[in-house]
Amino acid sequence: MSASKNDRKFKHLISIDELSKDDILYILDRAAEFEDVAKGKKVSKVLEGRILANLFFEPSTRTRMSFEAAMKRLGGCVINMTDTEISSVAKGESLADTIRVVSNYVDVIVLRHPLEGAAKFASENSKVPIINAGDGAGQHPTQTLLDLYTIQKESRLDGCRIALMGDLKYSRTVHSLIRALTLFRTKIYLVSPPMLRLPDDFIDDLSGDIQEAELEDIIEEIDVLYVTRIQKERFPDEEEYRKVSGSYIITSKTLERARESLIIMHPLPRVNEIGTDVDRLRFARYFEQAFYGVPIRMAILFELLK
Ligand code: NCD
Repeated sequence: MSASKNDRKFKHLISIDELSKDDILYILDRAAEFEDVAKGKKVSKVLEGRILANLFFEPSTRTRMSFEAAMKRLGGCVINMTDTEISSVAKGESLADTIRVVSNYVDVIVLRHPLEGAAKFASENSKVPIINAGDGAGQHPTQTLLDLYTIQKESRLDGCRIALMGDLKYSRTVHSLIRALTLFRTKIYLVSPPMLRLPDDFIDDLSGDIQEAELEDIIEEIDVLYVTRIQKERFPDEEEYRKVSGSYIITSKTLERARESLIIMHPLPRVNEIGTDVDRLRFARYFEQAFYGVPIRMAILFELLK
């Protein structure tokens, strides 16, 4: 989150790179304090009178709804622009104009857009904080914070041995998460079909203990297995997608040699990367992970709006 001129520490949340390790740990601590409110066990009105706009130019279930739940649980209101077919976007309105207008209506904007860099561009045209809820194959910083929160709660962050598996080329959740993981003392394995490797220039830009591996060689060692969906919508060519579709599937058999304490995460939605037989195993944490999006987004909204 970028620093602002006023007394607020953060002004927007565009990229995870804006946060230091201490900033991240601070947000995770705040999220822990909001958990009871997120579960509806405690009532809070700290964002009463504030309005959030969800501007989603791509599909979403969890991100949009957990932002809405977070804002409402803190006493705020939400307006949604999710169907760009029935908004002025369909008439050809530019993103800059949409942002200029909406930022006069609300106190914070959550933006998901297919173009990398869209959230940054929006922040340059907005009077209110912009939260990047995914910009193409770029970044997804709020997902990263909830992923780190899940690792901290369900496993361990410092010293964590984690495999990032699947579509490492196009997955924005991986592109954000891997950068944050390098701030901690982690060992990172990259597991993917050759066509979906993390791009070389991306790897060159990272420092830390990172190596490519086959899952069968590391399954006994890892603490976290983070699986991603093949990002079909980012493939320039349907034929290329068909070549890799279904090329990795986690089943209970894959996990026979896993550590007792292994946790499996997935940002969801899953298509077929994790068999439903895995859901009932002790390893599965993806539904808990999805819940943690609510306290994490409460903490982010509170920091941006307090
Ligand atoms: C992810 C996304 O949109 O990048 N979903 C999410 O926000 N939980 C992952 C995905 O779509 O595969």
